[in-house]
Amino acid sequence: VQRGAFMREIKIGIIGCTPICEEYLHNFKYRYSFINPILVADENMDSAKLYSDKYCIKTCGIDEILADPNVEIVLNLTEAFKHEEINNKALMAGKHVYCEKPLAMTIEGVENIVALAKEKSLLLGGAPDTFYGAAWQSARKIIDDGWIGKPVVAMANFIVPGNEAWHSDPEQFYKLGRGPMLDGGIYGISVLIALLGPVKSVYCNTQNTFAERKIFSMPKRGQKFTSKVYTHYSGMMKFENDVYASITVSNDIWHSRLPYFEVHGSEGSMFLPDPTAYMARPKDFREPMRMIRYENILNDCQNLRGNDAADRVLSKINYKNLTTEMPITFRSPEDPKENLIGIGLVEMAHKLAGGGKFNVDDVFAAHCAEVTLGFDISAKNKYPYEIKSTCERPDPIDGKSLELVWGSTIV
Ligand SMILES: NC(=O)c1ccc[n+]([C@@H]2O[C@H](COP(=O)([O-])OP(=O)(O)OC[C@H]3O[C@@H](n4cnc5c(N)ncnc54)[C@H](O)[C@@H]3O)[C@@H](O)[C@H]2O)c1
Repeated sequence: VQRGAFMREIKIGIIGCTPICEEYLHNFKYRYSFINPILVADENMDSAKLYSDKYCIKTCGIDEILADPNVEIVLNLTEAFKHEEINNKALMAGKHVYCEKPLAMTIEGVENIVALAKEKSLLLGGAPDTFYGAAWQSARKIIDDGWIGKPVVAMANFIVPGNEAWHSDPEQFYKLGRGPMLDGGIYGISVLIALLGPVKSVYCNTQNTFAERKIFSMPKRGQKFTSKVYTHYSGMMKFENDVYASITVSNDIWHSRLPYFEVHGSEGSMFLPDPTAYMARPKDFREPMRMIRYENILNDCQNLRGNDAADRVLSKINYKNLTTEMPITFRSPEDPKENLIGIGLVEMAHKLAGGGKFNVDDVFAAHCAEVTLGFDISAKNKYPYEIKSTCERPDPIDGKSLELVWGSTIV
């Protein structure tokens, strides 16, 4: 993908001023300076002021953003259950829309928004875009180079003990529109799709394991609340290319030693980090991503027979010595966390400015949303849910095109 230098500045308006908004604003200021957030709106003026003062952006009402002819893209950072309504309003006002995940809370809602964007010839797309991070782009290259052979099985696990031990207001994670699948599972799903292609069907068992949950964090320590969402998902995905992936998404487990993410092929395997991040969570910083080829395992036990060989292959093998550190295709020099938040919006802006392809578009975002929402439907019907939509794998990006984006100035 040749992104090249930006041809012009793109002005955007942001709706929903949240901590995640600050991450976007930081990257617009220091990394993607050709994106200019000129207006920010939040129902709660105190929230709006929090970051608008720091980043010198004018605060206003949502209607002012929608009426401003200078605003080309609306960035929707409101709560998930408000996405459909605000995406609709913005599209009706003639704005291109980039939305935090998911595009809407129902599959019908997603389809309606996609249809509206098409009717109005407007760009629509959104998060998650973490697969543009170095970890995932490197994994993509390993797969495309055939290093692990034909991918056959993958697994993604988002397992946390809820937010009751650390968040000041954990109840909000258990309200309509939240829950671990929409909050966290969708990241693993989008990375799986970006690496392995579109999904054919999903099957899932779910439960609201502990409907009454207790808060351990301050200031609400000791208070109880009721979860309105499923808190545990045990699911399977079948991809169009016949790869199978298992996915566990849970807020009900104190600690798990299941891996974050693995991809297994006919000739080898890859052991990958947390897909909610572009590179890795801090605890993984010192653990490089690793991969293994079958020859390494066979070489290690080729002169052994019987139980000795079985022991080596099945349990006693020192896999750490037999794995190879995965080469990283690019690194961001100034940011060890490599937080590329907004990179999908950069693509949208670049497309508007006359540049290349917009990968995280309505088709990709709608497919990710349908697959994610499909787990709940399958659980309810106790039957596999056949996915109606499809998409292409987003084009890979390389360090050179990212350097151009990071380093580019408006010409
Ligand atoms: N990419 C990430 O790493 C990441 C992390 C956290 C959250 N998110 C996503 O970001 C979005 C926001 O999540 P959050 O937890 O920060 O939400 P939040 O509830 O903390 O904030 C939402 C904000 O939107 C404002 N808002 C709601 N409706 C509005 C309207 N009609 N007009 C103006 N303002 C309005 C609210 O006042 C609130 O300040 C969600 O889609 C979530 O999934 C992404």
